[in-house]
Amino acid sequence: MDLSRPRCRHWRELVLLASLLACGIRQVYSQISIDPESLLGIKGFRTILVLQNVPQDVQEYSWHRGTNDTAENMIVSYTPPSETWQSGPMFSGRENVTRTGSLVIRRSALNDTGNYTARVDFGNRTEKATGCLSIQELENKPGIWANASSVVEYMDPVAAICYTNATNVNWYVEYTQVSSNDRMTISPDLKTLIIHRVSRYDKTLQCETESIPEFPRRSEPLSLSVDYGPDNVQLRTSHSILNGILSAEIGSQVHMECKATSRPSPKYHWTHNGSLLSLSGAKIILPSLAWEQMGRYRCIVENPMTQLAMYREFQIQVPQSCCEQRLLHLRSQSGQRLSLRNPDLYVDQPSLHQ
Ligand SMILES: *[C@@H]1O[C@H](CO)[C@@H](O)[C@H](O)[C@H]1NC(C)=O
Ligand SMILES: *[C@@H]1O[C@H](CO)[C@@H](O)[C@H](O)[C@H]1NC(C)=O
Ligand SMILES: *[C@@H]1O[C@H](CO)[C@@H](O)[C@H](O)[C@H]1NC(C)=O
Ligand SMILES: *[C@@H]1O[C@H](CO)[C@@H](O)[C@H](O)[C@H]1NC(C)=O
Ligand SMILES: *[C@@H]1O[C@H](CO)[C@@H](O)[C@H](O)[C@H]1NC(C)=O
Ligand SMILES: *[C@@H]1O[C@H](CO)[C@@H](O)[C@H](O)[C@H]1NC(C)=O
Ligand SMILES: *[C@@H]1O[C@H](CO)[C@@H](O)[C@H](O)[C@H]1NC(C)=O
Ligand SMILES: *[C@@H]1O[C@H](CO)[C@@H](O)[C@H](O)[C@H]1NC(C)=O
Repeated sequence: MDLSRPRCRHWRELVLLASLLACGIRQVYSQISIDPESLLGIKGFRTILVLQNVPQDVQEYSWHRGTNDTAENMIVSYTPPSETWQSGPMFSGRENVTRTGSLVIRRSALNDTGNYTARVDFGNRTEKATGCLSIQELENKPGIWANASSVVEYMDPVAAICYTNATNVNWYVEYTQVSSNDRMTISPDLKTLIIHRVSRYDKTLQCETESIPEFPRRSEPLSLSVDYGPDNVQLRTSHSILNGILSAEIGSQVHMECKATSRPSPKYHWTHNGSLLSLSGAKIILPSLAWEQMGRYRCIVENPMTQLAMYREFQIQVPQSCCEQRLLHLRSQSGQRLSLRNPDLYVDQPSLHQ
């Protein structure tokens, strides 16, 4: 803060001393007082100096610049019996007194900082209170920067820096406040957050400062590009797979599709009896199943960025004991269950009912 400007004690200190002091001044004469929490204003915003403990039957409220209540430094006054307002020499055009005696300053400026004295006239006596108003400038949003923008999940660390002169900094990951834990460390000066192994849920980072109480300022969200997977590899096939076996009749059409959670989109490869198929892509269609297309299939899912690969494997067979018995495998609506043309025949084949 600029030391050439007039300064007031911070309201947190003032709150501690509130009952006795405001800006080093005892409010000795009075029952009335200026709410210490109202003695902090933000440049450009409305400030209200709140008068407390005001008894009934007020004849006049007047507000003055400085520590005494002379006519030369009067800002504005309000006379309840006649409902009239009067401006004084220190009136800037932005001040007014509310019907409860509080001083309102619109579009507060930094040079509104200083002492203010309220006088309340009850006809046969007056009460006074002085408080020191501090107008502060809301600092800019803090800046944020990370030393990597594209990272691999569970492999790469990232360090984010909060650009601010504030000393209290909070960190947010995916809009949730975080503290140091086994996955991340916040530096002792609070300005650096290190995530030791970034996960896909750590995409958005923000820092926040609160140099003026109750006026937190949060940085723009910083987005990390996190590559992850493949995981959750799943097979979808036209025929159900039971215990790794897809039973299909010769001549039938077989669809096989692999799915995985991965960023970026993975590459898919297929092998049949251990040999790489020339077909690639997530989906394979065998229009009319031939004998030589029986055997072991493997779908391999590969993420070139994380350099991880996963596979799922199954065997295509002609239906075993059941072929003569004309068992049909039909997909039910859920796509999982088998339905049998004549279920009574197969009650003792538990695997078919799974
Ligand atoms: C007003 O207050 C100042 C100090 O802030 C003091 O020097 C001056 O004498 C006071 N004037 C009156 C009329 O009380
Ligand atoms: C203060 O506000 C009242 C209305 O609430 C208005 O009538 C009055 O003129 C204002 N006084 C000044 C000095 O702006
Ligand atoms: C306060 O600052 C404003 C500009 O922000 C200026 O116009 C005004 O004259 C100043 N008032 C005093 C009392 O210095
Ligand atoms: C307010 O008045 C007190 C007591 O006279 C003085 O110490 C302080 O510097 C004044 N504050 C400002 C900002 O003028
Ligand atoms: C002031 O006047 C009111 C009535 O207007 C009265 O109740 C009160 O006792 C008086 N106070 C003093 C200190 O004379
Ligand atoms: C980012 O900072 C962390 C923590 O200091 C460090 O381990 C990592 O190597 C840095 N990453 C890059 C890309 O410089
Ligand atoms: C921090 O303070 C210095 C010196 O007062 C200033 O040059 C710099 O711009 C400030 N940085 C921020 C982020 O406010
Ligand atoms: C793959 O193996 C199955 C038996 O395990 C066999 O029936 C099929 O002919 C084989 N096909 C190829 C192309 O090797």
